[in-house]
Amino acid sequence: MGKKTFISKVEAVLEKRRLAKEDIIFLLELEKKEELEKIFCRADKIRKELIGDDVFIRGIIEFSNYCRNECLYCGLRRQNPGLKRYRMAAEEIIDTAIDGVKRLGIKTILLQSGEDDSYDDGKIEMIIKGILRDCDCRIALSIGERGVDSYKRFYMAGARRCLIRFETSNKKLFGEMHPASSASKNSFDDRVRLIMELKKMGYQTGTGPIIGLPGQGVDDLAESIIMLNKLNADMAGMGPFIAHPRTPLAGEADGGIEMGLKMIAVTRICCKDIFIPATTALQSLDNENGVERALKAGANVIMPNITPKRYRELYEIYPGKANIHDEADRCVESAKDAIRSAGRDIGEGYGDVKRRAIEEKEGQQGS
Ligand code: 5AD
Repeated sequence: MGKKTFISKVEAVLEKRRLAKEDIIFLLELEKKEELEKIFCRADKIRKELIGDDVFIRGIIEFSNYCRNECLYCGLRRQNPGLKRYRMAAEEIIDTAIDGVKRLGIKTILLQSGEDDSYDDGKIEMIIKGILRDCDCRIALSIGERGVDSYKRFYMAGARRCLIRFETSNKKLFGEMHPASSASKNSFDDRVRLIMELKKMGYQTGTGPIIGLPGQGVDDLAESIIMLNKLNADMAGMGPFIAHPRTPLAGEADGGIEMGLKMIAVTRICCKDIFIPATTALQSLDNENGVERALKAGANVIMPNITPKRYRELYEIYPGKANIHDEADRCVESAKDAIRSAGRDIGEGYGDVKRRAIEEKEGQQGS
């Protein structure tokens, strides 16, 4: 009897047209298997109705592991002297991208690196143009904070998407996790302002939190989902925290795959037609089924790693990163396998995000 009443509270919350912060917290705190199934199932239904069965593949090229920052959680932080650093030459980045598009059939190339000033704006522009000159694809940038003028220049060169996480919605925690360095103030306000500017410039913009950072409560996670909505983010990039042994957060508990999946599902429920990737961090906590589980909980994007194999293990943001020993072909194949086993379709187009107006989305849900 008691159990039945409780389940119906889950159902009542899931039926709401608009979730209040307390509702989001309530859902994120659920733990029983049958309750989680209800959330995942609701999220999956909304995903199917609003954006369909296509899963889009983005190929990531991790082109440099140099970073000027000292983010407490990240293995690429400047003060990790144990890490061998590498930079790919512009021609090698361009060739890797072209191979990804022409041979592996990838439609979006995501260029990712630490915050590495040795690639100045001119060089990034040259790489973008070099890729687009030779192949038909979208280019997404995940290269950290740069000035608005830099990002305008990259847009002019042809980049159309940007990924820059707010990392945590908690301003105080953001301050603790991102010490100011000689190169950057690393402030929460600057980060959020940049995300808003990128949207204004016309970039399809992805952002989101690290899930389960030490010191982050479920309240902060709920705020993160609300923030994704406020920013009208096109994509919600988020994955569970995984402690790196050579950072100040060594030994801290990881964010957990369950919370990772719940965040995907509740984000889907609250942010409707936003794009959500099954991130590498989530996959790293369940190598066998992580991607498929994410796809069944509301995700619709996978980002296989197409970085040349010899650099893979050096891009060690956290240990145990999935696919570090696989060739690009294998990573793309396993992404496709996961899509098929989840009973979904491989997206054929570029997978541009076309978010509907908020009011229209609210009308859709709860109907
Ligand atoms: N665990 C999980 N995610 C991490 N990131 C950085 N370090 C970690 C970690 N230890 C994420 C950050 C960054 C993205 C590239 O990787 O959110 O923006």
